Amino acid sequence: MHWTGAAAVISALLQASCASRDVFSDPGINVDKWHSATRKANALITQLNITEKAGLLTGNLLNLTCGGIINAIPRVDFPGLCLQDGPAGIRTADLASVFTAGISIGATWDPELIYERGRALGEEFRGKGAHVILGPATGPLGRIPLGGRNWEGFSVDPYLAGIATSATVRGIQDSGVQACTKHYVGNEQETQRTLGLAKGVSVDAISSNIDDRTLHELYIWPFADAVRAGTLSIMCSYNRLNSTYACEDDHTLNGILKEELGFKGYVMSDWFATHSGAKAANAGLDMNMPGPVDQYNFTNSYFGPNLVRAVQSGNVSAERLDDMVRRVLTPYFYLGQDKDYPTIDPSGLFVTLAALSYSPSAFSIPDDTPLPPARDVRADHAALIRNHGAAGTVLLKNTKHTLPLKAPRTIAVFGNDAADLSRGSAVPLGAAYAPPQGVPMGVQVMGGGAGSGRLSYVVSPLEALRARAASSNHSMSIQYVTDNSVVANADFSGIYPFPDVCLVFLKTYAAETIDRTSFEADWNSTAVVNSVASYCPSRKTVVVTHSAGINTMPWADNPNVTAILAAHYPGQEAGNSIVDILFGDVNPSGHLPYTIARNETDYNTEVFNVTDPAQVTDAAAWQSDFTEGLLIDYRHFDANAITPLYEFGFGLSYTIFELTGKVNVRPVHGQRTISVFPPKVKENSPGGNPNLWKTLFAVTVKVRNTGDVAGSAVPQLYLSQPRSTVPAGTPMKVLRGFDKVYLKAGEERNVSFPLMRRDMSFWDVGASDWRLPRGEYIVRVGFSSRDIRMEGTIRV
Ligand SMILES: *[C@@H]1O[C@H](CO)[C@@H](O)[C@H](O)[C@H]1NC(C)=O
Ligand SMILES: *[C@@H]1O[C@H](CO)[C@@H](O)[C@H](O)[C@H]1NC(C)=O
Ligand SMILES: *[C@@H]1O[C@H](CO)[C@@H](O)[C@H](O)[C@H]1NC(C)=O
Ligand SMILES: *[C@@H]1O[C@H](CO)[C@@H](O)[C@H](O)[C@H]1NC(C)=O
Ligand SMILES: *[C@@H]1O[C@H](CO)[C@@H](O)[C@H](O)[C@H]1NC(C)=O
Ligand SMILES: *[C@@H]1O[C@H](CO)[C@@H](O)[C@H](O)[C@H]1NC(C)=O
Ligand SMILES: *[C@@H]1O[C@H](CO)[C@@H](O)[C@H](O)[C@H]1NC(C)=O
Ligand SMILES: *[C@@H]1O[C@H](CO)[C@@H](O)[C@H](O)[C@H]1NC(C)=O
Ligand SMILES: *[C@@H]1O[C@H](CO)[C@@H](O)[C@H](O)[C@H]1NC(C)=O
Ligand SMILES: *[C@@H]1O[C@H](CO)[C@@H](O)[C@H](O)[C@H]1NC(C)=O
Ligand SMILES: *[C@@H]1O[C@H](CO)[C@@H](O)[C@H](O)[C@H]1NC(C)=O
Repeated sequence: MHWTGAAAVISALLQASCASRDVFSDPGINVDKWHSATRKANALITQLNITEKAGLLTGNLLNLTCGGIINAIPRVDFPGLCLQDGPAGIRTADLASVFTAGISIGATWDPELIYERGRALGEEFRGKGAHVILGPATGPLGRIPLGGRNWEGFSVDPYLAGIATSATVRGIQDSGVQACTKHYVGNEQETQRTLGLAKGVSVDAISSNIDDRTLHELYIWPFADAVRAGTLSIMCSYNRLNSTYACEDDHTLNGILKEELGFKGYVMSDWFATHSGAKAANAGLDMNMPGPVDQYNFTNSYFGPNLVRAVQSGNVSAERLDDMVRRVLTPYFYLGQDKDYPTIDPSGLFVTLAALSYSPSAFSIPDDTPLPPARDVRADHAALIRNHGAAGTVLLKNTKHTLPLKAPRTIAVFGNDAADLSRGSAVPLGAAYAPPQGVPMGVQVMGGGAGSGRLSYVVSPLEALRARAASSNHSMSIQYVTDNSVVANADFSGIYPFPDVCLVFLKTYAAETIDRTSFEADWNSTAVVNSVASYCPSRKTVVVTHSAGINTMPWADNPNVTAILAAHYPGQEAGNSIVDILFGDVNPSGHLPYTIARNETDYNTEVFNVTDPAQVTDAAAWQSDFTEGLLIDYRHFDANAITPLYEFGFGLSYTIFELTGKVNVRPVHGQRTISVFPPKVKENSPGGNPNLWKTLFAVTVKVRNTGDVAGSAVPQLYLSQPRSTVPAGTPMKVLRGFDKVYLKAGEERNVSFPLMRRDMSFWDVGASDWRLPRGEYIVRVGFSSRDIRMEGTIRV
C-alpha cells in the first residue's frame, strides 16, 4: 500500500470508534511490498564491496548535516541516510514545529490525535529530507517518577504506551519517514545511564536487572506494539541488562526482538552506546551511531574498518554482514525513499553550528555570504499543536464553578512560567545545557536534550491572555507578577483593581542526562501557590502546571485553590492551548497517564544512585534490581491500598459523563474452548505470534453525556485475571481498554473494547510463552483507575 493510501484507510477506519482499536492491532507491514523492497535491497547488496557494506552500518560523525549520517555511495546512486532527533520535533532545524511532547499526547488518551501528531511530525522530517526520525520514545516507561526522560514517552502504563507508540509509528511511516522506536530496553534512569569516568576510573553503566515476566509485561510490551505497527528501526539503549550492555545483549536483541517479536528492520545504537564490534554485531546490533567509539576519539569505530576486519577474520560471518545491510536497506526501499525524496535542507547544518556557538567566520565563510534559506515545513501544524496541547491538559480540580472563566473583568497572573522565555529558540541544542531547573524566566513547553525541538516561536500564557483581552475589546484587564521571589515573598502591592480570579503558572524542567531531584514544581512553587492563595481576594486561585509529568501538590487541598490544570509540555502553542481550556473554548478531556501521590514517599521506586565515596570508583557498582516487578505506579498503589491525590486515568470535564445499561461481554473467538497458549505458528510475524493479537472477547458499554455542554469522555477498562490461577506478583487490575468518545450534551454512544489474547494472558516464565489463565476474569469499566462504575465477568 502506498503511504497516502494507508493513511486514507486508517483515517476511514478511525471514523468508527469501535474499529479504532482493531486498526492498532493489525500488522503495519504490507508483506508483498516488504518482499519487493527486500528484492531491491538484495540486488543492491550484490553490487557492494565489504567496505561499502560496513559503511552502511556505521555513522559518520564528521558530517554534521544531520543528527546521524550514513554516507552516500555515489557509485550505486545511494544517497545516504539522514537521521534526525527527536520525538517532539526536528531538533536541529529552522522553520520547523515544536510539537506537543509524548507525555502530553499520552494524556489525551486519543489514538486518533496521536496518529495525527505522528503523521504531521513525519511530514516535517520528510520536508527537511530526513529519512529517519529518532522516535517515538516509549522507554523509559516511567518506572521512576523523577526519570529525566519520562516526558518523551507516553505513559507509565504499557497498554496505553503501546497504543500510543503504535499510533505514532503508523503516523510517522504513513508520511514516508522511518520511525526508530527507542530506547530498547530498561533505560529507566538517566543517572549513570552510560559508561563513564569517575575519578579517572571507567565505571560501567547502570544495570537494569529485570526478571523475565516483568520484562515482557511491562518494559518490552510497548515495543511489541511498535514492531506490530511496523517500526522500521529500533534504538538499543545505553544501560546494561543483567550486566550486559543493551547494544550487545544477544538475549533481548536476537532472542526477544528479532526471534520472538519477529522484528525485520534494523537495530541502531544510541549515541556512543556501542561498546564492542564483533560481539555487538553477533548479538544483533545492525547500525552503530554516531560512528566513533566515543566523543573523544572520532577516528576509531567499533564498526567501520573494525567490522571489515571482523568479517575477514571470520569473527562475524559474511551472511550476518549481509543480513545487517539488508535490514538497513529494505526499509529505505519499503517506503520508496529511493524515489523523489526531498534533499536534505542545508540550513540544518548552520543551525547545528550555531548551536555549537560557531560563527560563520570560524568556517571561513565570509560575513556577506548568503546562507541557504531554510525550508519552511510547518504547514498548518500550529492549529494541530494548539489542539493537541489542549487535549493533553488534565483538569484535576474545579470547585466553586471557577472554570471555565466566564467574563472576568480583571485577571491576575503569577509565576515565571506565564512569561515569554528569556532565552527562546537560542537555547543551545534545545536546552540540554540549561541549569537543572531550566531557564529562569518563561513558559516550559518541552524538556531538554535530544528530545527537545527548536522553537521558531512560542506563545506564552501571558501573550495568549493579552490577545484574549484584546479580542474582548479590553473589557478584561490583565495584571501580572512573573518574578517568583516577589510572589513567594507575598509582595502583592499595587495590584488594582482586585482580581476576579488569580492564575498561577508553575513549571518543572526535565532533560536527558539528568534525573529530576524534586517532586514539587520548580522555582519555589509551593511558596508561590500558598502566597497567591492566601492573598487572592476572590478566593479563586487556578494553578496551571507545565511539567515533565509527576508533581506532588501539597497545596491541592487548599480551599482557595479552586482549580488545578496539569498542562504537561504542550509545545509551541502552549499559551493558546491553555487559554482555550480556561475559557471553555475547549472542554478539558485529558486524563492522567500516571499517578499523583499525596506524598512522594508513597512511590516505591526511585533513582539508583551510588553516593558512597568508597563506591564511586567501583566499576560494577551500579546494579538496579527491579524487585517491585510489575507493581509500578497504580499497580503499587492498588496492591498496598494507598490513596493517591489524583489517580491514574483521572481527569475532569466541564460536563458529566455516565455509563448506562450494563457491561456486555461477547465472545468472538469462535471456539468451544480457548487454548491456554496461543496456537503455534511456523514463523512469528512482526509483533510475535499473530494469535496473541486476535480478539477473544468484545466488551461493550454505553456512555452518556448527562451535562449541558459537549465534551469527550475516556471510558477505561481494567481487567483482573482469575486470582487463583495467576502467579504471585500479579497486579490487582490492569488497564486493557480505553476509548475517547466525543458526545454532544445528552448524547449516548456504544463503546466497544476488544480484548486480545495478549491482553488477557500473563508471561509464563517456565513455558516461555503467554498463558491464558483459566477461571473468572473481572472486567471493570469507569472513568479512572479508581472511579469504577460497572463490573462484568468473563469465564475462560
Ligand atoms: C569499495 O568501493 C569503493 C568505492 O565505493 C572503493 O573506494 C574501495 O576501494 C572498494 N573497497 C574494496 C575493498 O574493494
Ligand atoms: C554530509 O552528508 C550529506 C547527506 O548525505 C551530504 O549531502 C554531504 O555532502 C555530506 N558532507 C560531507 C562533507 O561529507
Ligand atoms: C535477567 O536474568 C533473569 C534471571 O536469570 C532472567 O529471568 C531475565 O530474563 C534476565 N533479564 C534480562 C533483561 O536479560
Ligand atoms: C583514537 O584511538 C586510536 C586507537 O585506539 C588511537 O591510536 C588514537 O591515539 C586515539 N586518538 C585520540 C585523539 O585519542
Ligand atoms: C576475533 O575474535 C578473537 C576471539 O575473541 C579475538 O582474539 C580476535 O582479536 C578477533 N579478531 C578480530 C579481527 O576482531
Ligand atoms: C468588540 O467591538 C467590535 C466593534 O465595536 C464588535 O463588533 C465586537 O463584537 C466586540 N467584541 C466583543 C467580544 O465584545
Ligand atoms: C521561597 O519562598 C520562601 C517563603 O515565602 C521565601 O522565604 C524565599 O525567599 C523564597 N525563595 C526564593 C528563591 O524566592
Ligand atoms: C483564603 O483566602 C482568604 C482571603 O484572601 C484568606 O483570608 C485566607 O487566609 C485564605 N486561606 C488559605 C488557606 O490560604
Ligand atoms: C510524607 O511522608 C513522610 C514520611 O511519612 C513525612 O515525614 C512527611 O511529612 C510527609 N510529607 C507530606 C507533605 O505530607
Ligand atoms: C545522585 O547523587 C549525587 C551525589 O553523589 C547527586 O549530586 C545527585 O543529585 C543524585 N542524583 C539524583 C537523581 O538524586
Ligand atoms: C448500541 O448497542 C445496542 C445493543 O447493545 C444496540 O441495540 C444499539 O443500536 C447500539 N446503538 C448504537 C448507537 O449503535
